Amino acid sequence: MKTKDVKEFRSNSGQWSGKFGFLMAAVGSAVGLGNIWRFPYLAGQQGGAIFLIAYVLIIAIVGFSLMIAEFAIGRHAAKNVIDAYGAKKKGWGAVGIVSCIASFLIVSYYSVIGGWIIRYAAGYFDGGSFAESGDYASVFASFTGGTWEPIVCLFAFMAVCLVIILLGVQNGIERFNKVLMPLLFVMLIFVMIVSLTMDGAAEGVKFFIVPDFDRVESTGGIMGIFLAALGQAFYSLSLGLGIGTTYGAYARKDISLSANTTLICVSDTLVAMIAGFAILPAVFAAGAEPTVGPGLVFVTLPSVFAAMPDVLGSIVAVVFFLLVLFAAITSAIALIEVNVSVITEKFRIPRKWSAIIIVVAATALGIIVSLSQGGFIGGVDVLSLFDTFSNTFLLPLAGILTCIYVGYVWKPKNALAEIAAHTENGTVKLGKLWSLNIRTLCPALIAVLFVYGIVDLFI
Ligand code: TRP
Repeated sequence: MKTKDVKEFRSNSGQWSGKFGFLMAAVGSAVGLGNIWRFPYLAGQQGGAIFLIAYVLIIAIVGFSLMIAEFAIGRHAAKNVIDAYGAKKKGWGAVGIVSCIASFLIVSYYSVIGGWIIRYAAGYFDGGSFAESGDYASVFASFTGGTWEPIVCLFAFMAVCLVIILLGVQNGIERFNKVLMPLLFVMLIFVMIVSLTMDGAAEGVKFFIVPDFDRVESTGGIMGIFLAALGQAFYSLSLGLGIGTTYGAYARKDISLSANTTLICVSDTLVAMIAGFAILPAVFAAGAEPTVGPGLVFVTLPSVFAAMPDVLGSIVAVVFFLLVLFAAITSAIALIEVNVSVITEKFRIPRKWSAIIIVVAATALGIIVSLSQGGFIGGVDVLSLFDTFSNTFLLPLAGILTCIYVGYVWKPKNALAEIAAHTENGTVKLGKLWSLNIRTLCPALIAVLFVYGIVDLFI
């Protein structure tokens, strides 16, 4: 975002409506397809309860510390991501470039899945006859593997995003977020209750919360599980893409970064876990395999909806997919914004045009992603490729660099002063622990998994 925009933004306190607005915007960016689509299928693929444990550990050790670091960098510099990192030492702006590439790759497949959500919402609005056969896996495979239908849905998703961006996101989106996010939460709990009361659901609950070490072998091994958990933590918390720095730049000094970071991490993890409880028990109840991958939500939720009394099932399904769609749109807009702000500033073109350029380019790439689902791109699954490449390589890379930047370039004591700006005595509890973590354990852990991921890829 332009410095001018930042100033306008700051002078208009009505926009970032204080503490609650900041929290809701951050939660809105974090809660998205990552929680409802990606987390349950990864948990299904990566051994269930063991993945859950790895995930919570990573959130506690790495996610929290890194998120607060990103907020501190942003609020202190009050600049866009590239200039914020470049504030203390020029070359560090390069971290921002990694973020831009990653967010572009993510948006190109995020929008394809957003399109699938639109298709399902529309299908249930139409009475659910598209899934009448009851063979939800084939319905999903033939839809996503098709040529035109998923591309039309992709266009629809991107068109909605573009319209909102061109209308000016801040006011509308923020207001919608405050109502729709809590509503999504309630709906998810409702779906969870239905799923938990299905016959045979107990197996799924067990899978999700009781570790079964025999399953480790059938996954990529314990290191692979931790690597997947790390990628998911970055993805779900929106780390490594400059969202923390950008949003931090709009936060006033009286906002407690530590309290907000805690709330964001807890609520994001809670939504993911509820989604796990809504989906995994239904998978087992339907006698399906939890390891199918990205299609999991689309294959199992229809069975949950089918288990409800007739009309109710369709109504719940429509509302549910619409809310997920909304969560996806809010996240997609934030992802697009990362590149829009950079293009606008670096090439000095009007914001409107940079938004159009980014959306058109991402849609073009999205078409390739979509076609790859039907095996058109030589059988390569471009969606999984982009997903893995950005979330297990680019984001952790940005994460390590952020630790080094805060730990050794900017220095933890300066970051802590920023974090503690709202307190009277200028200190934060556990500040020492955080400093130590951000300099040692945090980057070391990411580095080990990062190197493991690369070695694993080539051997
Ligand atoms: N956290 C989002 C989700 O769970 C996805 C995401 C990753 C994101 N990085 C982001 C969204 C940056 C907005 C901005 O779906």
